[in-house]
Amino acid sequence: MDDHRDPAPARHRFALPPEVYLAGNSLGLQPLAARAAIAARLDEWSSLAVEGWWDAGWLDAADALRAPLARVVGARPDDVAVMNTLTVNLHLLLAALYRPTPERYRIAIDEDAFPSDSHAVASHVAWHGLDPRDAVVRDPGAIDETTAVVLLAGVSYLTGAAADIAAVTAAAHAAGALAVIDLAHAAGNLPLELDAWDVDAAAWCTYKYLNGGPGAPGAIYVHERHHGAPRLAGWWGVDAADRFRMEPDFVAGPGAAGFALSTPPVLALAPLAASLAVFDEVGMPALRERSVRLTGHLADRLASVAGCEVLTPPEPERRGCQLSVRVPGARDLAGRLRAEHGVICDFREPDVLRFAPVPLITTYDECDRAAAALAALLR
Ligand SMILES: Cc1ncc(COP(=O)(O)O)c(C=O)c1O
Repeated sequence: MDDHRDPAPARHRFALPPEVYLAGNSLGLQPLAARAAIAARLDEWSSLAVEGWWDAGWLDAADALRAPLARVVGARPDDVAVMNTLTVNLHLLLAALYRPTPERYRIAIDEDAFPSDSHAVASHVAWHGLDPRDAVVRDPGAIDETTAVVLLAGVSYLTGAAADIAAVTAAAHAAGALAVIDLAHAAGNLPLELDAWDVDAAAWCTYKYLNGGPGAPGAIYVHERHHGAPRLAGWWGVDAADRFRMEPDFVAGPGAAGFALSTPPVLALAPLAASLAVFDEVGMPALRERSVRLTGHLADRLASVAGCEVLTPPEPERRGCQLSVRVPGARDLAGRLRAEHGVICDFREPDVLRFAPVPLITTYDECDRAAAALAALLR
């Protein structure tokens, strides 16, 4: 396959740095429409001031993104809410769903879980008066009658391996546990079917594959059966129609939006809206098909580079578009790839380079240049 036969469908819609950019798994590129989208919000603010909440639809700025995000993760819009950031949302979901009892109190988490997820679960069990050394099990396969929650990464940040979310969810349910999924590296990368897989809850950031911008708002999924769960509440979780009644008693609004706490960040939502429009135009199925071809192409090239080892599973169904390479001197190599060859990937401790050919944007030629640059540096 090549760029002539399989062009990147949305390359012209993003601001491209001069380098070969393979770090969209860390920070997605800027949608070209983002600048105008933010400028429009700034204009509304300057001309309407507080009336912007009503006259410019700011009240609806987060809710308007529920449907396009739901399409990305395979959910009903009712089960999705845009709010806060990922670690905050993991805490809120655990507060609602992790209800330890003397018999069932353990949380199972990936061995290579992202540190923030480890911190979140350890602090939750400790906050409940439990010992993390006993109550946190670093193996999402170790599910038994003591397991309350499985916190699973949809795609490993380190190896790029995709989890079998449906299978882990089914195993959790069979043991009487709940499945909560961290989709940071999965949302916008792999086609997801959260509803069909019967996942209990999920959280993700939008600054990676979803191109929402640095520190962009995060999102949650909450299965319908948990919409009434007890929660840490704030006024933005009250039904929009009742919010300004200013009642002291909290009555949760419908759906996942009832888990929101605070006023949405209207300016910060604007680039995300611009990016999600691109996802709707291309569609996850087409994006995934190109991703399989493009990632396979880069995987073949990297496999022929002497002196490194691709950690990511070779089977397309066990990975998204991130390829992780174990190589001695990885930190130094990442710097040299950029400085000497104009290739931006990223480094993760202890010895891993991550290359993400993002199917919306990356070209085959860029994959070839990145692999050739790595080979040249290792020669
Ligand atoms: C898998 C995973 N979980 C959690 C986080 C933390 O996200 P945030 O800083 O938005 O809370 C990240 C950030 O990169 C991540 O990759």
